[in-house]
Amino acid sequence: MKKNPLVSMVMGSVSDWETMKHCASALESFGIPYEKNIASAHRTPEKARQIAETAADRGVKIIIAAAGGAAHLAGVLAAHTRLPVLGVPMKGWATDGMDSLLSTVQMPRGIPVMTLAIGKAGAVNAAISALQILALSDGYFAEKLSDFRRRQTEEVLSAKFPDD
Ligand code: RP5
Repeated sequence: MKKNPLVSMVMGSVSDWETMKHCASALESFGIPYEKNIASAHRTPEKARQIAETAADRGVKIIIAAAGGAAHLAGVLAAHTRLPVLGVPMKGWATDGMDSLLSTVQMPRGIPVMTLAIGKAGAVNAAISALQILALSDGYFAEKLSDFRRRQTEEVLSAKFPDD
């Protein structure tokens, strides 16, 4: 039986998947059940609202929102839920993602969006942030987080230059 999602990933366009698949892989490696949706703040605002409004009742604990350009998606989702919303700015097509970064991070006082780095680093860090939040109240995820950090440290300490 498929587990209920703890994380809801929402992308403004299917074109964001190329970046957000790295978030999905990280969530899978941590054993975090997730759902993935395409909903745009501008093109399908009703769908975006509905995903955010129903998320908590569906058992979702964290929303991860990815959008590019005038990236209002994370803020719109945050307006319609009391769940924490992590925003991942997409690189976009005009300013290397600076437009997305500022649109996502510069939320007015009162409705926060916890904003990650632009692109792949932000996508992966959103999954790690979700793991950290879940680990606060769940021993299984706390163990996953400790394992991940230990392995990451070992990998860096044992890294070799390719031509050595
Ligand atoms: C945003 O516009 C999406 O999140 C995407 O990053 C960007 C471009 O969308 P497409 O034109 O590729 O559908 O809403």
